[in-house]
Amino acid sequence: MDLVNTDTTRIQAQIADAFRFRHATKLFDPHRTIAEEEFATILEAARLSPTSFGHEPFRILMIQSPQKRALFRAFSWGASGLRNGTPGQLGTASHFGIILAATSTAMAAGSDYLQAHYREVKQLPEEVIEIINGSYARFQEAGHAIRTDREISDWSGKQAYIVLANMMTAGALLGIDSCPIEGFDMAPATETLARDFGVDTDRWRPAVMFAFGYRAAAPDVPKTRRRMEDVVSWH
Ligand SMILES: Cc1cc2nc3c(=O)[nH]c(=O)nc-3n(C[C@H](O)[C@H](O)[C@H](O)COP(=O)(O)O)c2cc1C
Repeated sequence: MDLVNTDTTRIQAQIADAFRFRHATKLFDPHRTIAEEEFATILEAARLSPTSFGHEPFRILMIQSPQKRALFRAFSWGASGLRNGTPGQLGTASHFGIILAATSTAMAAGSDYLQAHYREVKQLPEEVIEIINGSYARFQEAGHAIRTDREISDWSGKQAYIVLANMMTAGALLGIDSCPIEGFDMAPATETLARDFGVDTDRWRPAVMFAFGYRAAAPDVPKTRRRMEDVVSWH
């Protein structure tokens, strides 16, 4: 029992340390690369992330070649270093990617994509699929009123952010830095994905970008947060 308590205390401290360690890294050390198996662990955290109804409405596109990264520079002000006169995350991250969110083509209730997902990935029997089809249709139509293509893509995007959070936490536990990146223009990002990456943008839209690597320097601003009592209320 003592051992369990000691372990729990140690793990609590590790978790707290990881969350304090993580900051939105603006500039990475361009000479340091994340070991393949460590990044594989980060991707596994993504793959195993929870999603609403278990629909997994996301994909991850890794962009490693400098030429491919350069295609995003003009319209990705949050990753280009434009604001601080550096090569930014695009120019220095060991690993850079985009999480794509599924559109209504895949995620509307009753879609072919979902039927295949229930059968092939979730291995559900037909009678269970029928029940899920009904409850998911009610969820989309009435419960959460997620009806338009934009609403459905945004809902997929919410799942993408859970994936990203888990990736960043996994990274922080390994001492790996990261930055979540929303600082890009949607329209040219979508066009670039279709034109230069062969993404079917009727099915997949950019949700959020990310960069992983090792910080070039200590964070230049201290971490500030609201007080716990301003964040949480107990009833
Ligand atoms: C969804 C999301 C999008 C963000 N987009 C950018 C971005 O484009 N560029 C950037 O440098 N930081 C970006 N950030 C980082 C935030 O500015 C940062 O997390 C926040 O200021 C808190 O600081 P900390 O993460 O260092 O504790 C983003 C954060 C989140 C969660």
